[in-house]
Amino acid sequence: MKIIVTRIIPERGLNILREAFGEEAVTVTQQEGPIPRAELLRIVKGADALLPMLTERIDDELLDTAGPQLKIVANNAVGYDNIDVPAAKRHGVIVTNTPGVLTETTADLAWTLMMAAARRVGEGERFLRGGKWTCWSPMQLLGMDIHGATLGIFGMGRIGQAMARRAAGFGMKVLYTDSFRMAEGAEKSLNVTYVDKDKLVRESDFISCHCPLTPDTRHAFSTAEFAAMKSTAVFVNTSRGPVVDEAALAEALQSGKIFAAGIDVFEQEPKVNPALLECENAVLIPHLGSASVETRSRMAAIAAQNIAACLRGVVPPHVVQG
Ligand code: DGY
Repeated sequence: MKIIVTRIIPERGLNILREAFGEEAVTVTQQEGPIPRAELLRIVKGADALLPMLTERIDDELLDTAGPQLKIVANNAVGYDNIDVPAAKRHGVIVTNTPGVLTETTADLAWTLMMAAARRVGEGERFLRGGKWTCWSPMQLLGMDIHGATLGIFGMGRIGQAMARRAAGFGMKVLYTDSFRMAEGAEKSLNVTYVDKDKLVRESDFISCHCPLTPDTRHAFSTAEFAAMKSTAVFVNTSRGPVVDEAALAEALQSGKIFAAGIDVFEQEPKVNPALLECENAVLIPHLGSASVETRSRMAAIAAQNIAACLRGVVPPHVVQG
């Protein structure tokens, strides 16, 4: 048996694989950063299972190189836009992900970004550390209130719903848009109102993206959307970078079309548009949505359980339908 894990992951995941298939069956590539493509293509040859990160592109070339014994690609993420799922299907390879476990952790982080951007926490910290704080001032670093404001959720899946639950504690009005409308009872219990994207963009004080990356959501937020937002709006993205046109976002932040942004994901990670880096009113962090000790450990465990089930001939718990 040959199982390839493309990055060092929490022990909980590795132990599941080692206990099920033996120490020697599991190869973990040891570098901290993404494995170079050529190296990945070299080591996947003859693998029965692959546990990749969202940084690895899984496509026809890789599946052909791996060979016909490859049974499963168990992504260590809930998002799977790095995987060509139809290609995997053609190769008879099951694709799995890690849904559920990271919902609350990612919503916590989106909330962190909302608050940090609205209350200018990044700017304030740079100001203080830069030795610029000489006295308290009534006009210093004034931000936007979160309590009582309107939150617009773009993509009402698990994480979007977790955002709506948090919003209740802040007395916020919640609007949402998605390609599917929730059942009336679910809307009522979450206290959310379905609107079209235009209304969401125009009427929200805070907009938070929680959609998957698909051809329909690529650049869902670009020049027109930022122009239609309130000049006091705070925009947050913890979904996938290409959902947002980064150049348009930087322009909107610089020209005051919107107030601030909190961004966890980028169009070409780990590169960040230089114009965005110049924006004092952007809080920028390196794709940390699911990055808590417990959640990353549980994600690794779920990815490993998906592999263990598949290699034992059982349908894994989290098969991606594509
Ligand atoms: C995911 O799982 O899709 C996140 O972006 C990384 O945790």
